[in-house]
Amino acid sequence: MPAKVDPEDAVKRLVAAIDEDRLWRRHLEIATFGETGRGGVNRQALSKAETEAKQAFLRWATAADYETGTDAIGNIFVRRAGAEPGAAPVVAGSHLDSQPTGGNFDGVYGVLAALEVLDAASGIGLGTKRGLEAVVWMNEEGARFQPSTMGSSVFAGEFPLAAALASQDRSGVTVEDALRAQMTVLDVEQVVPFGAPMAAYLEAHIEQGPILEATQKTIGVVTGIQGLRWFQIDVRGEEGHAGTTPHLGRRDAMAAAANMVTALQRLMRDESDRVRFTVGRFEVSPNSPNTIPGHVLFTIDFRHPGAETLRRLGDQVEAVCHDHAGGCDITVRQTIETPPATFDTAISDQIRAAAARQGLPNMDILSGATHDAKYMTGLCPTGMIFVPCEGGRSHTEIESATSGDLVAGARVLAEVMVRLACA
Ligand code: GLV
Ligand code: MN
Ligand code: MN
Repeated sequence: MPAKVDPEDAVKRLVAAIDEDRLWRRHLEIATFGETGRGGVNRQALSKAETEAKQAFLRWATAADYETGTDAIGNIFVRRAGAEPGAAPVVAGSHLDSQPTGGNFDGVYGVLAALEVLDAASGIGLGTKRGLEAVVWMNEEGARFQPSTMGSSVFAGEFPLAAALASQDRSGVTVEDALRAQMTVLDVEQVVPFGAPMAAYLEAHIEQGPILEATQKTIGVVTGIQGLRWFQIDVRGEEGHAGTTPHLGRRDAMAAAANMVTALQRLMRDESDRVRFTVGRFEVSPNSPNTIPGHVLFTIDFRHPGAETLRRLGDQVEAVCHDHAGGCDITVRQTIETPPATFDTAISDQIRAAAARQGLPNMDILSGATHDAKYMTGLCPTGMIFVPCEGGRSHTEIESATSGDLVAGARVLAEVMVRLACA
């Protein structure tokens, strides 16, 4: 029988064992995979660079003798076993994939902070009742394969595995093929079932917005995540000669799409500046200066904290597009709809209390960005810890965070994880 662990003593020792230098060095190493030469990374899901980042993660995990495993959608789990083999683990993590012009902290931080908690526990030989687990979710960003938060939504049973595997990137490569190629390199056993029990899920992340920095807070106690709807609009017109085709009767897909975007921006105008509306992808075909565009595809990313506004405005997108189709054939497809998520107050209370005990200025905050954590809310008590990032900038190569803030968040994560793992 392992000796009973005093949680207060475990917290003190574990928090002291969190190693700022190791955490920072690992960020620097992960930043080399997919580096663009402009300070950021292009490490999209299931790319060679993302495979290399996961190899580094698994190398660290294997060196520490943790159990490793994957599931059928390529989420990777690393477990430091607890004393009670049947007890559900306390899990933390995030993602290693990036935007095409991504930074070095979005996602990476949550994965490395989780691994740091496991390694700090090992460093002091800490025994916990529950296992401590670090997870790397597959394709959080959704830049290469849509939808985003793919691995966590499939794991949680909120998105069908078959649809995820069939998703194609812009060159027609499927998730199924790209995942098979990645798994051949990683060589992790597929032993984790979807929905595998978790005692709790935590995710540390940079804020990706300006609030913590502006208010000089080190820790954001995340209360929830705003709702999100993504659409893909396909506009089919008719190609023709730009110099000779009379305007009357043209079916110009580009002109129609531009009118749709202008009308949608009008629809989404919001004095209170809470609506988030972005057309982030706009593809014109054949993309030649002197041919009338015959085809345009564009995407909409629409977010709001309120379910009612999300419904009311989102439900008008299709009609607005049809009103401005200009004779083109259009299809409007919603690719994701997630309602606003609320995190478990008992977990938020623990995060707030840990931050206070550690003398860290903190505040409650709602996440504007989406995260894998939103899908864990249906499975187990879930919470998130934010730390500041410079100028609130993210999804850009200039994304930056300080080592001091990162380690502060990791110490709060460690305290909450060990308390839960001893309970
Ligand atoms: C994830 O990065 C998001 O889109 O919020
Ligand atoms: Mn992220
Ligand atoms: Mn992101």
